[in-house]
Amino acid sequence: MWFLRLFAIVLFTVECLAARAADWRSRSIYQVFTDRFARTDGSTTHDCDPKNNIYCGGTWKGIENKLDYIQNMGFTAIWISPITAQINQAYHGYYQTDLYSVNSNFGSESDLKSLSAALHKRKMYLMVDVVPNHMGWAGCHNTVDYRRYKNFNRITDFHNYCEVTPESNQTGLEKCWLGNCNITMPDFRTEDPAVAGKMNAWIKSLVSKYSVDGLRIDSVKNVNKEFFPPWCNSAGVFCMGEVSEGKATYTYPYQKYMDSVLDYPMYYAITRVFQGQKSGNMSDLVVNMAACTQNAAQGCKDSSLLGTFFENHDQARLPSLTNDMSLVKNALAFTILNGGIPVIYQGQEQHYAGGKDPGCREALWSSGYSTQSPLYAHIAYLNQIRNLISTKQASYLGSQTKVASYTSDVLQLRKDPIRTILTNQGESGGTYTWTTQGMGFKAGETVVEVLRCTKYTASGSGEVSVGMQGGLPHVLVPEGRMGGSGMCGY
Ligand SMILES: *[C@@H]1O[C@H](CO)[C@@H](O)[C@H](O)[C@H]1NC(C)=O
Ligand SMILES: *[C@@H]1O[C@H](CO)[C@@H](O)[C@H](O)[C@H]1NC(C)=O
Ligand SMILES: *[C@@H]1O[C@H](CO)[C@@H](O)[C@H](O)[C@H]1NC(C)=O
Repeated sequence: MWFLRLFAIVLFTVECLAARAADWRSRSIYQVFTDRFARTDGSTTHDCDPKNNIYCGGTWKGIENKLDYIQNMGFTAIWISPITAQINQAYHGYYQTDLYSVNSNFGSESDLKSLSAALHKRKMYLMVDVVPNHMGWAGCHNTVDYRRYKNFNRITDFHNYCEVTPESNQTGLEKCWLGNCNITMPDFRTEDPAVAGKMNAWIKSLVSKYSVDGLRIDSVKNVNKEFFPPWCNSAGVFCMGEVSEGKATYTYPYQKYMDSVLDYPMYYAITRVFQGQKSGNMSDLVVNMAACTQNAAQGCKDSSLLGTFFENHDQARLPSLTNDMSLVKNALAFTILNGGIPVIYQGQEQHYAGGKDPGCREALWSSGYSTQSPLYAHIAYLNQIRNLISTKQASYLGSQTKVASYTSDVLQLRKDPIRTILTNQGESGGTYTWTTQGMGFKAGETVVEVLRCTKYTASGSGEVSVGMQGGLPHVLVPEGRMGGSGMCGY
């Protein structure tokens, strides 16, 4: 009898700890590229040229030792690179060879468990990047020795070879292989129930072994859609998929098959709007903000779960397109406050400017982990106000962000009680007074601009007249909601 009770308690505990979509909605995610974040020795001088495409020595211990740096920016979760064993020099983690062993370059199983425990002690979540689409092979497709793959060692566990090309249709994307020579990615036959069953067992064991709270799923568009619901269910935690495609009608419907997708359509809009080209138009963001709702019938079920980002390890960083600091500050304010789950990639806080992959994979340690950089503080303020309001006001996260008003270069958003004024005028935007439209404050109430701690008084019609300066964004919150924030002296 006693063991039955014990079993029930264990089950109950696991159930309670597993982080689902509702638990993730309030989170703010910092993307760690494990090989390039922190070394165990804490070195800030170790040489790392992204062009070389080789390991630079980042580890899970290194991350654990630097959690203050991440948490003090207001992040409540981290996403780390795939943890599985890899072919030589696959420092990014996307060429795996053994799903059941960890990448020893990043540390041991106990190092990973220790990182997970350290995060949980801080009430932070661990999101692990996982790759259900393929394995890796250092050679051409016709030289693969399937016997080397633990648990997936039959040729029939994989699709017959054909190569994914830019012309591939959806069937080709799902059934053909990424890569050809000299690195190829044997493609799991995930529509085969036997293979799917083994994948389900694997993800379940991975999540429980390392107490994982969420998954970032790689190469989603290369896997049959029907694979995902049972797989994510087996994982039992929040699933956020990478569907690297800007077309809203293609990407958003994947939310029918998993909790969330990374918001690639919005990534393209943010990049177009804030890269300092005359053609950038705020209406681009407005159009994208409505796109999930427009694709609701096709499966886009909840825009507040989409992962909003504008940099990652696969894309050129925004500062590689513009050195205008104000534009980047606006893009960050939009990313953190537009209503999705913010995902900020390591190095954004240091204004890193690497170009497209592998340029955007700079080692963070060369920044010296400075907490004095202007964007470190900017991100911290934005996370802090979002964390504060989402903790104190349950309705904040679920409410739809409203476009209060917009022109081609100024966008005013309302997600009460936070109002945001964004502009892509850039540093040369000048100094002028801007009277808001549609902000709906209470007449006469004091409103605090939390990035600069300026106070304004709302007019009889609930608007404020703010001092625009050098194209900086404004984040406005009624004074009455600032209590206990620790911001601006409240
Ligand atoms: C997809 O492309 C393959 C060739 O790569 C072709 O055989 C197949 O008919 C195409 N399917 C559709 C639906 O167009
Ligand atoms: C591919 O691998 C073969 C055999 O290992 C080698 O001879 C060839 O040079 C490699 N090609 C490239 C482009 O690396
Ligand atoms: C911005 O887009 C809106 C809506 O498409 C359009 O009416 C406006 O003319 C555009 N502004 C500029 C400066 O092109």
